[in-house]
Amino acid sequence: MSGIFSTSRLFNKTALITGASGGIGAATAILFARAGANVIVAARRKEQLSVVAEGCRKANKEGGTGQGGRVVEVVLDVADRRGVDGIFDKLPADFRKIDILVNNAGLVYGTDHVGDINETESDTMFNTNVMGMIHLTQIFVRHFKQNNAGHIIQLGSVAGREGYAGGSIYCATKHALHGFTVALMKELVNTPIRVTEVQPGMVETSFSVTRFRGDADKAKSVYKGIQPLVAEDVAEDIVWAASRKEHINVAEIFVLPVNQASPNIAYRSDQ
Ligand SMILES: NC(=O)c1ccc[n+]([C@@H]2O[C@H](COP(=O)([O-])OP(=O)(O)OC[C@H]3O[C@@H](n4cnc5c(N)ncnc54)[C@H](OP(=O)(O)O)[C@@H]3O)[C@@H](O)[C@H]2O)c1
Repeated sequence: MSGIFSTSRLFNKTALITGASGGIGAATAILFARAGANVIVAARRKEQLSVVAEGCRKANKEGGTGQGGRVVEVVLDVADRRGVDGIFDKLPADFRKIDILVNNAGLVYGTDHVGDINETESDTMFNTNVMGMIHLTQIFVRHFKQNNAGHIIQLGSVAGREGYAGGSIYCATKHALHGFTVALMKELVNTPIRVTEVQPGMVETSFSVTRFRGDADKAKSVYKGIQPLVAEDVAEDIVWAASRKEHINVAEIFVLPVNQASPNIAYRSDQ
């Protein structure tokens, strides 16, 4: 495979992607496999993981080099501390040296304003987007220090740069991720370990369906009159960052649809 990814740099590297059963995580796993990396796809829904794993194998054979591209599925709830602690026990022996961690698992519930926020949903957002990500990163920083190499790729958001009404908890989780990531990059400055934060704007995935608690019509209306990013657009940025030369750290990628300028400023063709 040619183009923006250097296959040789990713060949036989192993990437673990959380939240890989759909959306950006699934697209990222498939692109890594196409570029010749081995992938560990992790998420809660086992059946969906198997579909993505098959997509990875196919992409590796058909579009890619046919090298690397081995896949392991791991059922993992990042908010489950014990499950995260046991992550390496769930992996076959030849998948226990990991080169790239993509902290992608994340979700949003509702557009409720402060005062009306469901506390259970708020806990789930923090336990997934922040605490799960931190816990897994602690384990991987130790792993990467032992290997004297590694790359941590964080799924931030435009919501981690600027708060918006109706998104207080989600914005707080992504601001927390951003603060953590900036500090982490500084702590690792004397190591070869890389830290990247990708901050997308609107991406049409199941994200909005989850936000509107399963209401697909409401979710669709978010993208009315505008061409949003799709999961593969963000996956390309992630795999591009991972395939730079080893002395290069792509610290941040802020990527928006061309007609979006901030969480609330977007030009819609029906305006
Ligand atoms: N879509 C956007 O507009 C947008 C914009 C900026 C940033 N992002 C960020 O991008 C990331 C991916 O979102 P997406 O758009 O791809 O959404 P998505 O299609 O809803 O995918 C979310 C993924 O996260 C997984 N997940 C949720 N809770 C989990 C948990 N506790 N443990 C493990 N996996 C979990 C889900 O899998 P299971 O249900 O199988 O566990 C699913 O695979 C998130 O961090 C999100 O905040 C999205």
